[in-house]
Amino acid sequence: MPLTQSREIACASRLEQVRYAIRDLACVAEEVAKQGHKILPLNIGDPLNFDFATPAHMIEAVYKAMRDGKNGYSHSSGVKEALDAIRAEAGRKGINTIQDVFITSGVSETVDVCLAALLNPGDNLLTPCPDYPLYSAVLSKLGIGLNAYYLNEEDGWQPDLEDIKRKITPRTRGIVLINPNNPTGSVCTRQMLEDIAELARRHNLVIFADEIYDKLILDDDPHIAMAAVAPDVPVVTFGGLSKNYLAPGWRIGWGIASGDAAVIRPYVEGINKLLRARICANHPEQYAIKPALEGPQDHLPEVKRKLRARRDLTAKWCNETPRVSLVAPRGAFYAYPSIDIPEPDETFVCELIRQKHVMVVHGSGFGQRPGTQHFRIVFLPDEKTLAAAYSAIGDLLRERYS
Ligand SMILES: Cc1ncc(COP(=O)(O)O)c(C=O)c1O
Repeated sequence: MPLTQSREIACASRLEQVRYAIRDLACVAEEVAKQGHKILPLNIGDPLNFDFATPAHMIEAVYKAMRDGKNGYSHSSGVKEALDAIRAEAGRKGINTIQDVFITSGVSETVDVCLAALLNPGDNLLTPCPDYPLYSAVLSKLGIGLNAYYLNEEDGWQPDLEDIKRKITPRTRGIVLINPNNPTGSVCTRQMLEDIAELARRHNLVIFADEIYDKLILDDDPHIAMAAVAPDVPVVTFGGLSKNYLAPGWRIGWGIASGDAAVIRPYVEGINKLLRARICANHPEQYAIKPALEGPQDHLPEVKRKLRARRDLTAKWCNETPRVSLVAPRGAFYAYPSIDIPEPDETFVCELIRQKHVMVVHGSGFGQRPGTQHFRIVFLPDEKTLAAAYSAIGDLLRERYS
């Protein structure tokens, strides 16, 4: 009789807290798609699902790199020409105390490495609420509990400074600031950056400045980099090709560690240990970084023009629709309206998929203040598609709650 294993293989209990609502809704969507309905995905922030294209000169650079034999492993930090280009770009943003730069498989891996290199059991990290769910997923994986601070809807979704102050403990090691923000589309004021930097100085925190959307500011004010405002503070700035440069599938992100050299050195050594252990980021795609940052930027005005029009349409619909209200986004391509409904926002979102075949993400998937409900819209589709989606959402609100 051959031996077979009969007991289930349980997954690690720390995964109980891992949620990624953006993709977790896929099960409901699959059920609806099986019935023959086409789903409109307003849930995933991938511009290439819509009328946006990766700049041709970047594709050529990767193709050339492959033909030139850049198909082996690269140095663990990344290839020199790309690292130099990231440093130069950081310099243009006023980041002048750079201590290290490294390239990863998307910002997703930068986050993974940076959090793992910092946190010990019992430590905590301040993360925004609502949150881009990657952060809480990585913290769960590391067995670190959440210490979430609120973004303040009444204050244009700026971080709630008083809440941050209340939540700092002796074991708080850092703070995550997503700017421009996913899911709210807010952009931090200079004063807010200065205030957070001051807290970091006082409590010896590392600031993780997730600035992956920094070139997608929709109204023409410049983006202010946290590391430029706080040159002396340990900051790791996250950037990449997924959003600004329309190449999410290439999985190219990076981290820029800045601050006082002596203070940040041991931490940077820890990051590099982990970078070596995972060998390297995708090699040929790294050759798109220099052409992206230093080549033609023609796609950006066009991307922003489209996003502005789609943001304005979204804000208009939210303002005109009963039960819905919105702090208009100023960056990225997300809107996070609040909804006044008598049932959980997750139920509303699931019914929206089932009945109207439109997919958005429920606020509870990102976190929100108790007693409030939201949903996140990705406003990447063209105006005609968005208008149809909003009309369907309006219909469901009316049918279900009036
Ligand atoms: C705020 C934020 N950080 C990081 C990421 C992950 O980006 P990447 O594709 O570089 O892994 C995303 C993706 O949507 C994001 O919105």
